Amino acid sequence: MTLTWITGASSGIGRALALRLAREGAPVVASARNAEALAALEREGAGRIVAWPLDVTDHAAVAAAVAAIEGAHGPIARAILNAGTHVPMSADDFSAATVRALIDINLMGAANALEALLPRMAARRAGHIAVVASLAGYRGLPTAAAYGASKAAVINLCEALKPDCDRLGIKLQLVDPGFVDTPLTRRNDFAMPFLMPVEAASEALARGLASRRFEIVFPRRFAAIMKLMRILPYRLYFAAVRRTTGK
Ligand SMILES: NC(=O)c1ccc[n+]([C@@H]2O[C@H](COP(=O)([O-])OP(=O)(O)OC[C@H]3O[C@@H](n4cnc5c(N)ncnc54)[C@H](OP(=O)(O)O)[C@@H]3O)[C@@H](O)[C@H]2O)c1
Repeated sequence: MTLTWITGASSGIGRALALRLAREGAPVVASARNAEALAALEREGAGRIVAWPLDVTDHAAVAAAVAAIEGAHGPIARAILNAGTHVPMSADDFSAATVRALIDINLMGAANALEALLPRMAARRAGHIAVVASLAGYRGLPTAAAYGASKAAVINLCEALKPDCDRLGIKLQLVDPGFVDTPLTRRNDFAMPFLMPVEAASEALARGLASRRFEIVFPRRFAAIMKLMRILPYRLYFAAVRRTTGK
């Protein structure tokens, strides 16, 4: 079985996916900052998960980690660039530091990994990379100014890279989840529509990874609504936002 590297594997979607792939027999290298949580995941992984603590915002450390993982375990056949976080922020508490922090983790974390992975996969003319963005990257949503901006950038980045990756023989996928019940969304103080259990999310993600689709979305009904929201003119869009969020 081919090696899968998952970032953001110490909790939530990344953790559930690591365990799911390991149960299916795939060897997994699991990265995040929390070494203790990764060690616990490794113990649950029945010998198929290797913990590899890493801060994805550290450019040099990410390059060194990719080289060391391949040195120790062979080529990374599949990388799930999932590390990310959310800090709710509105106009009342706007903070450039929060924007910078989320861009650093959500966008630059993925960029650091892509810089390390793309030349290696291109040289092999083989590889599969899935980058986790969010349906919140489609359009600006209340309290998600920093998060949505970082995820919109990730979506654009993946769209821009897709034709090149096709040419280089690399399968690039974009993952746009809706609301999934994880520590990240437990910070939200509003009722989240179509909130999905993390097990169902990891199942949908695993199914999407096996498909040829560029974009993996779940839950599908919420994604369909968000795709419609994306094409609404501003007047109708802001009216819909006001009606659904009260903001
Ligand atoms: N939950 C949702 O509803 C939802 C919806 C759309 C998109 N997403 C995206 O899905 C991904 C996973 O989110 P989740 O909901 O599973 O959240 P989560 O449970 O908070 O997991 C986030 C993961 O990212 C890791 N991480 C954060 N900063 C990192 C850093 N600097 N270096 C390395 N790892 C880092 C965390 O581990 P450490 O703290 O140990 O580093 C953790 O393993 C994120 O990109 C998120 O934006 C989630």
